[in-house]
Amino acid sequence: MTPIKTVGIAGTGLIGAGWAARLLIRGFDVVAYDVQPAAEARLKAAIDVAWPSMQRLLGKTGPRGKLTFTTDLKEMATRADFVHEAAPEREDLKIKLFRDIDAVARPEVIISSSSSGFLPSRLQSECRHPERVIIGHPFNPVYLLPLVETVPGDKTSKEVLDRAGVYFEAIGMHVLRLKREIDGYICDRLQEALWREALHILDKDIGTTGDIDDSIVYSAGMRWAFMGSFLTYHVAGGPGGMRHFISQFDPTLELPWTDLKFPKWNEALERRLIEGCEAQAGGRSVAEIEARRNDVLVDMMKLFKQHKVGAGLVLAREEEKQRSACKRWNKDIDVSKPLRLWDGEVFTSWLDYNGHMTDAAYLIAFGDGLDAFFRFIGDDEAYRATGNTFFTAETHLNYYKELKAGEPFRIETQVVGGDEKRMHLFHRMYHGRSGELVAVNEIMQLHVNQKRGKVTPMGASLYEALSAVWAAHQKLEKPIELGHVMQVKR
Ligand SMILES: NC(=O)c1ccc[n+]([C@@H]2O[C@H](COP(=O)([O-])OP(=O)(O)OC[C@H]3O[C@@H](n4cnc5c(N)ncnc54)[C@H](O)[C@@H]3O)[C@@H](O)[C@H]2O)c1
Repeated sequence: MTPIKTVGIAGTGLIGAGWAARLLIRGFDVVAYDVQPAAEARLKAAIDVAWPSMQRLLGKTGPRGKLTFTTDLKEMATRADFVHEAAPEREDLKIKLFRDIDAVARPEVIISSSSSGFLPSRLQSECRHPERVIIGHPFNPVYLLPLVETVPGDKTSKEVLDRAGVYFEAIGMHVLRLKREIDGYICDRLQEALWREALHILDKDIGTTGDIDDSIVYSAGMRWAFMGSFLTYHVAGGPGGMRHFISQFDPTLELPWTDLKFPKWNEALERRLIEGCEAQAGGRSVAEIEARRNDVLVDMMKLFKQHKVGAGLVLAREEEKQRSACKRWNKDIDVSKPLRLWDGEVFTSWLDYNGHMTDAAYLIAFGDGLDAFFRFIGDDEAYRATGNTFFTAETHLNYYKELKAGEPFRIETQVVGGDEKRMHLFHRMYHGRSGELVAVNEIMQLHVNQKRGKVTPMGASLYEALSAVWAAHQKLEKPIELGHVMQVKR
C-alpha cells in the first residue's frame, strides 16, 4: 500500500480549503481540484487566514506541503493517495463526482466525502470500487476542530475504515467511527435538534436570537465543550449519577419541553432570525467574528490540553508525537558546541502593544528550548510517568533585540554546570535569518521525585547524557552574562 503523501481535494470552498490547510501544515502535498478557476485565489486566501491560528495551536511545525491547484479532475484523482470530496451538498452531484473519481483513482485510494448528512451507500452506488468509499465528516473550521465522523456504506470494507482512521489520526483528528450509516450522522442530528428547537422559541417570540444563544454560551455550552450531554447529566444526578438523574428527570420526557418538528416557515420568523443575528454581530464583519472565534478555539484547546479533557487530548497527542521526534543523545552525537535543538517562530498572540514579542513569550520560547534539551537527555513522558521530573529553581533573562510576528528564531543550549541533582543551563536565542543574538536565558533546574516530594538524583541514563554534554561544554567559553544580576548601567 502506498503511504499517504499526496492528498486530493474535490471542491475547494470553505471545507475543502480547511482540509488543505490542515494537511499542508503537517507536510502533506495537496492537489486541489475545483470546477471554477477562480476558486484557486479563494483557496489560497482561505489558507492564509487559517495559517496563524494553526501555527499558534501547533507551535513548531515541519516543512509545509506543496499545494497544486487544478480544474482537471483526472490530474487530481491520478496523483492522490487519498481523496477528500468537499463539493456542494447535492446528492446527484456527489454521486456523479464519486463515479468520476472512482473511475480514475488507484483502487486502494480511499475516497472520503465531507457530506453533512448523505448516506454513503448512495454515494458509492455508481462506483466500480465501492468498498473504498466512506464519509469523513469534519467540522468548520476544519483546520482547527479535531472531530471527524467516519461512516461506512453497505459496501465499504472494514479495512478501508481502519486505514482511514490511521490517516485521520495522523492529521491530528479524533475519529468517531459510526457503527452503521444514518442520515445526518451523530453530530449533525444533535445540532439539528437544537436548531429546530431554537427556531420554535424564536417563532413563538419567547426571546431574541441573542437570548437563545446566551442560554448556551453562559451555561450548557461551557459544559458541552468537554463533557458532552450524558456526562453532564451524570454529574447533575449528584452522587447517584445517571441512576438518580433518570428517576429525578424521567417525568420531564412526558412534559411538553420540546417541539422537535421544524416550525412552519414564516416571514416574521425569518425577520427575527436575520435581524437578531445582525444585532448580535454588532457591526462586526463575518471575517472579524471568525478571527475572534479562531483565537478563542485555540485558547480553549490549549486550556483543555492542560486539563487533559476533550479536544485538548488530541492536541496533546499530536504534540507528544512531534516532541518524541526530537533529537536524542547518544555517544556518537557531536556535543562539542552549544546544542541547536529548537527552531521556532514568533506567533501573533505573543506580541505586546509595540508589536514585539512580550517578556512572557520569551520565557515560553526558552521553555520550548528547555523542553527539547529535556528530551535530548531522555526526560520524556515515560520518564515523567515514573514521578521524576525537573523543577525550575531560578531563571534570568537578558533581552538584546526585538522579534516581530512571524520571525524565525533558533535556541542553542550550553550546559554551564551540573551534578546528579542539578542542571545549570544557558540558552541563546538567535534570529533565524540574520543570526543576530536576540536574548539569553540562564536557568537552574533541580531534579525532583514528585512521589517522594524531594530533590533526588536523576536517572542513570539522563545523568550519563548530561555528563557527556557537560564534559564537552566545559571547554567552551563561559557566557559573559553568567551569574550577573543587573547588567544595564544606570
Ligand atoms: N460549511 C460547513 O460548515 C460544513 C461542515 C461540514 C461539512 N460540510 C460539507 O462539506 C461540503 C462542502 O461544503 P462547503 O461549505 O465547503 O461548500 P462551498 O460552497 O463553500 O464549496 C463548494 C466548492 O465546490 C466547488 N464545486 C462545485 N461543483 C463541483 C464539482 N462538481 N466538482 C468539484 N467541485 C465543485 C465549488 O466551486 C466550491 O468551490 C458539503 O458537502 C457540506 O455539506 C460543510
